[in-house]
This record gives sequence, structure tokens and C-alpha cells, in this order.
Amino acid sequence: MANAKTAVVYFSATGTTKKMAETAAKAVNGDLFEIVPAQAYTSADLNWHDRKSRSTIESNDPKSRPAIKNKIDLATYDTVILAYPIWWGLAPKIMNTFVESQSFENKNIIALCTSGGSGLGNSGKEIAKAAKGSIYKGGKEFNYGSEAEIKKFVDGALK
Ligand SMILES: Cc1cc2nc3c(=O)[nH]c(=O)nc-3n(C[C@H](O)[C@H](O)[C@H](O)COP(=O)(O)O)c2cc1C
Repeated sequence: MANAKTAVVYFSATGTTKKMAETAAKAVNGDLFEIVPAQAYTSADLNWHDRKSRSTIESNDPKSRPAIKNKIDLATYDTVILAYPIWWGLAPKIMNTFVESQSFENKNIIALCTSGGSGLGNSGKEIAKAAKGSIYKGGKEFNYGSEAEIKKFVDGALK
């Protein structure tokens, strides 16, 4: 597709995914957008050893949809790369808030994650399912991905 446009939309609580998403945007010559939580996550919020921390409560609640501060308009994009950290095996619930706020009809989705080692798992499939009408092209973990590695993966996924 000669005029295909790609957006890289990321959420990052502690900066790892932000770095990967910046590399991905350069790799695919895409536009970069950050999902900014209405309420920032503190380190106490992110404590996964605490059953009562905000991130634990959100991750355990299928209905949790943390609010987003900013508006992101994907109308002109054919392909959307969603980049996020793995929380409890899945994308953070704020990614669900995001995909449910947009029309994804006939848009390609590629999921890129960072994790502490558990990898992509089902997170890409699940978040694409929540993005109604989207076409899931695959996903991969890139904790230390180079521009060339990410480009190779995305090009292959879109073929
Ligand atoms: C609440 C929470 C839950 C997490 N759950 C997992 C997990 O299930 N598997 C895993 O490998 N890493 C897990 N991690 C580690 C993060 O995925 C990893 O540190 C990620 O790179 C952080 O990205 P960020 O700096 O962009 O926020 C978790 C981190 C947090 C804060």
C-alpha cells in the first residue's frame, strides 16, 4: 500500500515500553502517540506483590477501564501498532480503554510488548479482539529490539 500510514500508540508506566515504541516508530516511519493516564501510576500503584495495589486491582477486574487524559485520533491510519508492558500476562487495562474508544474497522493491528520475561502470551490476540473490526497481524516482545529487528518483524507481519 503506497499511502499506508502507521501509528504507534503506546502506554508505558516506567519508560521501558516508551523507549521500544520510539524505536518502533522510527523503524516503520510511523507517527508516535502516548496514552497518558488521567491518574499517573505511582510506584505503590505498580507494586505487583501487593494484592491491593491499583495495578493488581485493575488487572484482576475484567471491567476495569482506567481513564485516559489525552485524545488520539487514528482516523487516517491503516495500521496501528499497539505497544504496552505485560501486566499479569496481558496488556494493562488502560489499553482496553483505548481500543474501545476508537473505531478499528478494517485497520491492521500489531502488538508489541515489553515484559519481565513472560513475553507476549495471549495479550496481542486479546487486545485485538477488544478492538472491534480490527485485523490482527501478530505480535512480539521487544525488550531490546533494534530498529532493524522491529522493521523486519512488522514488514513480515503485514505481508
Ligand atoms: C503491575 C505489573 C505487572 C506485571 N506483570 C508481568 C507479567 O505478568 N509478566 C512479566 O514478564 N512481566 C510483568 N511485569 C513487568 C513489566 O512487563 C516490565 O517491567 C515492562 O517492561 C515495564 O514496562 P514500562 O517500563 O513501559 O512500564 C509487570 C509489571 C507491573 C508493574
